[in-house]
Amino acid sequence: MIKTDLKLFKKEAEKEINSAQSLKELNEIFKRYLGEKGEIRKFFRLLKGLSGKERKEKGRLLNELKKEIERKFAQKKKIFQVAKKTLEEWFDITAPGERPALGHLHPLTLVRRKIEGIFQMMGFSVVEGPEIETEWYNFDALNIPKDHPARDLVDTLWLKNQKSKIKNQKLLLRTHTSPVQIHFMEKNQPPLRTIAPGRVFRHEATDASHEHTFYQVEGLLVDKNVSLANLKGILEFFMKRFFGENVMLCWQPSYFPFVEPGLELLMRCSVCSGNGCSTCNNSGWLEVIPCGMVHPNVLKNSGLNPKFWKGFAFGMGLDRLVMMKYKINDVRLFYSGDLRFLNQF
Ligand code: DAH
Repeated sequence: MIKTDLKLFKKEAEKEINSAQSLKELNEIFKRYLGEKGEIRKFFRLLKGLSGKERKEKGRLLNELKKEIERKFAQKKKIFQVAKKTLEEWFDITAPGERPALGHLHPLTLVRRKIEGIFQMMGFSVVEGPEIETEWYNFDALNIPKDHPARDLVDTLWLKNQKSKIKNQKLLLRTHTSPVQIHFMEKNQPPLRTIAPGRVFRHEATDASHEHTFYQVEGLLVDKNVSLANLKGILEFFMKRFFGENVMLCWQPSYFPFVEPGLELLMRCSVCSGNGCSTCNNSGWLEVIPCGMVHPNVLKNSGLNPKFWKGFAFGMGLDRLVMMKYKINDVRLFYSGDLRFLNQF
């Protein structure tokens, strides 16, 4: 074991360390040189047979060699570690970005806009009215007498301890959009054509076909010489535009205090195709548009002379139309906020 041997040995070791291609390979080389049974240990073992002075001298040389090889290993190890870290932290700046999930309109909004579009095409304007109403607008002006069941506490949500500034009337959450008719006739001179979509509220237990809060679209047309034929024509046109030419419709007489005569437009239930299901109460038909000729008292209450003006009105349930359009059998789904449902639109 002479000095030149050690030099050669060192060179050899360095060469091997430098050529290592991976951390794993480096560890194996490390074991071979510096491990329990490694080459350097072997050299140290040879020292045993030497005399004191020589052993000391050679020992020093060997220790130096060992330290240097260790340093080389540490250097190379660092290179691998840095490379690994860089690889982990690297990201591709040319990769296309992730698209943020886009929201979309609620089915009730989509359908409301579609309905508005069809009526606008026929010259109707779109207006809004207040959700908090007085007894006058929600009931009296609409010819709903004091003893009418709709005025029963069970149906109406009243505002506690609050009265209207005008006439000190009791306040309530509107139970229908019909009061917008009155507001509109008060503010505008006929001929009138308008629809008023909006939220309405009722004191009701909820089930698959009832909600305490839902949407209606009110319609009003006032002009000279308006007849029931105009009403039927416009609503049938609307239904065909909305559901398609093949929609099956049927009319039946009905009663609402604010119209005379009162009618109801029914359509074949789309959930069961007319075979009968819980949505249509097993009748195969569903009332979708209650309507009629505006009652003379309603015109009078709005400041119009019923001798000159005639009109028709309707008030469709928006939720019900959406249910028919998309074959949905539970109205509560609209308000559940369940994305599994909403994402389908
Ligand atoms: N307001 C009625 C309701 O909520 C619906 C209605 C019926 C509206 C006949 C009208 C109408 O304009 O003419 O049940």
